[in-house]
Amino acid sequence: MSFPTDRPRRLRRTESLRALVRETRLSADDLVQPYFVVPGEGVKQEIPSMPGQYHLSVERLVDEAAAARDLGIRAVILFGLPSYKDAQGSAAWDDTAEVQQAIRALKARIPDLVVISDVCLCEYTSHGHCGPIKDGEVDNDAALESLARVAVSHARAGADVVAPSDMMDGRVGAIRRALDENGFAHVAVLSYAVKYASAYYGPFREAADSAPQFGDRRGYQMDPANVLEALREVALDLEEGADMVMVKPGVAYLDVLARVKQTFQRVTAAYQVSGEYAMIQAAAANGWIDRDRVVLETLIGFKRAGADLILTYFAAEVAGWLTAGRA
Ligand code: PBG
Ligand code: ZN
Repeated sequence: MSFPTDRPRRLRRTESLRALVRETRLSADDLVQPYFVVPGEGVKQEIPSMPGQYHLSVERLVDEAAAARDLGIRAVILFGLPSYKDAQGSAAWDDTAEVQQAIRALKARIPDLVVISDVCLCEYTSHGHCGPIKDGEVDNDAALESLARVAVSHARAGADVVAPSDMMDGRVGAIRRALDENGFAHVAVLSYAVKYASAYYGPFREAADSAPQFGDRRGYQMDPANVLEALREVALDLEEGADMVMVKPGVAYLDVLARVKQTFQRVTAAYQVSGEYAMIQAAAANGWIDRDRVVLETLIGFKRAGADLILTYFAAEVAGWLTAGRA
């Protein structure tokens, strides 16, 4: 059958009809809000490269997260800016450091909030790489030991989920083993399984003070040209015990997200990264795009491609729109 019998426009005539037949939906349940924790007290300072996002001291972060929870946000992911850096990134597994404090404070004040901690070393190393350096390269197997220590430290503070973002080989297995050996079998691993060496992380590196001081991350993050390799990364991480896998960045990799979801049928996350956020904010500030509609269109794109959860700097704001029935 075809025209004039088939007329797809019949189901597009009114918003009620469109809602009735809509295939995917956005829900605040699926949105994860990232936060940047800094040393100090009473700090809420806007990040220049990410207007609308802030450096927050622990107690201000808890206030923000409580407000986000009230808007329907169920999960946050934490990044830390430490008070000291060294070649090993040892502040990352300091039980008294900012992220660990923030995890404890969040779990105490908002027990039903899912606290995810980003596990990496680049914010903590003096050279800005995601593991210790040996002969001018990141030493994969030495990094594993450190990453496992970080994950256990976050679990000890009360993290529900640890999210390794380093792209070392074997880190999910190393982290899973360390968690289990230390009594944290219940703590889940969200693996940044497919993380590309992307220019879209620029604003984050300024926000997290984590830009590499020499070279780049192409020796450990993925080549943007590859998708079969992405499937291999996911397969390895699932074998090693990942509970959820992520594809990152977002919009430029929707095909990868769809392939990963269709191939493995496992909980899959998308990360709309800092550069994607900054580009939308900048275009909107110039009056060139309808910001709110672009944000919603992008997020529904992630859902349509197969994302179960979405990490986005717009999370709390969009949750507010959804709660108010505006989207
Ligand atoms: C740390 C890390 C990065 C991001 C998340 N964790 C930066 C990087 O790998 O350079 C990027 C997040 C964003 O751009 O929003 N490994
Ligand atoms: Zn890193």
